[in-house]
Amino acid sequence: MKTHELELIVNGERFEIRVTARETLLQVLRERLDATEVKNGCGKGDCGACTVLLGGVPVNSCLTLALQAKGKEVTTLRGLGDEGNPHPLQRSFVEKGAAQCGFCTPGQILSAKALLDRNPKPTRWEIREAISGNLCRCTGYNKIVEAIEAITQ
Ligand code: FES
Ligand code: FES
Repeated sequence: MKTHELELIVNGERFEIRVTARETLLQVLRERLDATEVKNGCGKGDCGACTVLLGGVPVNSCLTLALQAKGKEVTTLRGLGDEGNPHPLQRSFVEKGAAQCGFCTPGQILSAKALLDRNPKPTRWEIREAISGNLCRCTGYNKIVEAIEAITQ
């Protein structure tokens, strides 16, 4: 199958790989760059578990072709912080009990990050709207909204 050169910048690190025109960004991140913090849920744009930031904008990586990421900065949850140096959103999710099974959490946090980058003082409604594409089967959403709201005060 024909492959194409692709230079990807993921969490500030540059990768040069070859991909087919049909490979999704989700496949490349998880299967070739070991970015397993990007979750594979429905695989068809319904759940938001695969959310990453592409040039600062949240996208479903399962619906994004890897070639569409050419020349753009890709940010996954790992790019925000880690256990030793967590992002304020990551800390707040833990403190507020907003992560239960954790499967939706990377996508929730990245959607929230994109919102706060463009609107540091969102209303509760704007927070709900920003995470409306990120489904959670565990928390009932209130704790997630509270965790995001807590760092805007
Ligand atoms: S895995 Fe991409 S939206 Fe569900
Ligand atoms: S914490 Fe389990 S799906 Fe959201």
